[in-house]
Amino acid sequence: MTILLVGGGGREHALAWRLARDFPGASLVAAPGNPGIARLARCVPTAAHDVAGLVALAQAERATFVVVGPEAPLAAGLVDRLREHGIPAFGPTQAAAQLETSKAFAKQVMREAGVPTAHATRHADAASAKAAARALGAPVVIKASGLAAGKGVIIAQSMAEADAAIDAMLVGGEFGAAGAEILVEAFMSGEELSLFLLTDGTRALPLPAAQDHKRVGEGDTGPNTGGMGAYAPVTIATPEIVRAAIDRVAEPLLAAMRARGTPFTGLLYAGLMLTPDGPKVVEFNCRFGDPETQVVLPLLSANLGEMILAVARGDSLAGVPFPRQHDLAAVGTVVAAAPYPETPRTGMPLVLPADADDLLVFHAGTARDATGTLVVSGGRVATVVGLAPTFAQAQARSTAAAAEVRFDGAFFRRDIGWREAGRAPRRD
Ligand code: GLY
Repeated sequence: MTILLVGGGGREHALAWRLARDFPGASLVAAPGNPGIARLARCVPTAAHDVAGLVALAQAERATFVVVGPEAPLAAGLVDRLREHGIPAFGPTQAAAQLETSKAFAKQVMREAGVPTAHATRHADAASAKAAARALGAPVVIKASGLAAGKGVIIAQSMAEADAAIDAMLVGGEFGAAGAEILVEAFMSGEELSLFLLTDGTRALPLPAAQDHKRVGEGDTGPNTGGMGAYAPVTIATPEIVRAAIDRVAEPLLAAMRARGTPFTGLLYAGLMLTPDGPKVVEFNCRFGDPETQVVLPLLSANLGEMILAVARGDSLAGVPFPRQHDLAAVGTVVAAAPYPETPRTGMPLVLPADADDLLVFHAGTARDATGTLVVSGGRVATVVGLAPTFAQAQARSTAAAAEVRFDGAFFRRDIGWREAGRAPRRD
């Protein structure tokens, strides 16, 4: 068996780690991979956005199946092209990936399906958007409809902030085509959950729920980032909450996508707000989340790889039980390069702690220079994941390991999972 894994970040390193465990005899090829993935797979320098190059690579490698990590190749139709060539691929088609690539499309499908979410209106001109923001009142959410690298959502605390965000997107072209249409959305308060649902288009299998931290600073302060850490499981994601998310969100949404003739298969990432009326959708993503994947995948005792392969082949998940999980907690701390999320400095030599029974180190912004030295190549450099019987132990392990990451300008948050730290452990 040969598996082609597309992508080269921390999420893909975690996927490579999982696939290597679940298919011990398989040959793993990663495009483009990273130096951490290179310990598990043969890395080929084909970019994750090079759809034609990836199809050619999958053919040349006679890939049994392809696992697509990031959203960009899904948005560009990689899964469609692979299937046209008879190559099984894990991930949604371009049409189904619109659940992430167009927030306006996702709202429309949610409306059709009766999926609980915040009221929103879509706008291409600033005057109507500003009027809609005034009708809702502050705080109000202004969202670019398209892919904006996690930066296209502004929670405006005043009408002046709302006007500025609307003008930046619709007049100033801040996010280019991604911000040419925006949503003006009612603000929801509460705690957010990242719930990953593996789906064949009909059945949705939940993975352990996670929470991530998007702000750069401790106490969730400062600008948004790609994610500074995550933890799982989350005590407040009770079996009842997860059941409600499947019954009221995933199943009606999947049914609506089938009815449109664009079934969604792969990994549905439901970003949920826990409200007194039950979970409501903040957003959907069409792929595994980063850095949540780094903490969710190590918790599974079930063979995730077999389920991914079944979905890639178009097999049904009917009757497949919900994936079992270890009775463990995982906390992942992202070590970043200053001044991330502004343009970080790169090229510095880097030393990472070694993996251990209670520690997994996933590479993201790392590379080898011409001499083979490991160097920093991006803003989020690595996710260090502590694994332990309790949340507190896992957090202490992760924080201690983050302090062992050495490069000029390294920084990290010491409060990953602060909400969980304030909760009593769940007793099921
Ligand atoms: N953790 C957020 C994302 O993957 O989009």
